[in-house]
Amino acid sequence: MKENKKLQVSAIKDGTVIDHIPAKNLFKVIRILGLMNLENQVTFGTNLDSQKLGKKAIIKLSNKFFEDEEISKIILVAPKARLNIIKNYEVIDKKLVSVPDKIIGIAKCVNPKCVTNHEKVKTKFKVLSKSNVALKCLYCEKITDEEHIEIII
Ligand code: CTP
Ligand code: ZN
Repeated sequence: MKENKKLQVSAIKDGTVIDHIPAKNLFKVIRILGLMNLENQVTFGTNLDSQKLGKKAIIKLSNKFFEDEEISKIILVAPKARLNIIKNYEVIDKKLVSVPDKIIGIAKCVNPKCVTNHEKVKTKFKVLSKSNVALKCLYCEKITDEEHIEIII
């Protein structure tokens, strides 16, 4: 933490701080992780200044620690997010979001003819690109690239 700057959202004692979320995707991250159903204390800030993202959002979750697999789903909307693990007010670990092999549900297939757009079947994708996320539909094989990813939850 830089000495000359105050925290824009209060520090937490124990838990996870998800930083570097693009501001426009904050609510998508909340939906993907199901944070609206948590009983834990959750605080967030949005439209905070960031040199890298322009405007960023941050989410602080008290007493919540994620499995890597659970958090990897946010790769679709916050590929550059950083997780800070806090124990007794100290940052004890910093992690990037890992790239999952598959994504089940969450996103819509770009192909209007795909079965997932006509019947009640969950979408399933193989994650292709590691830098710019692209999703290959396991039903119709069409590729949904990053710009076209539409979150359906
Ligand atoms: N943080 C927090 N509660 C704590 C300690 C840290 O909420 N008890 C938050 C900070 O506000 C920051 C993030 O966790 O958003 C990472 O903390 P730190 O590594 O100290 O800050 P920076 O060096 O600014 O982080 P970065 O290198 O990610 O810019
Ligand atoms: Zn498809």
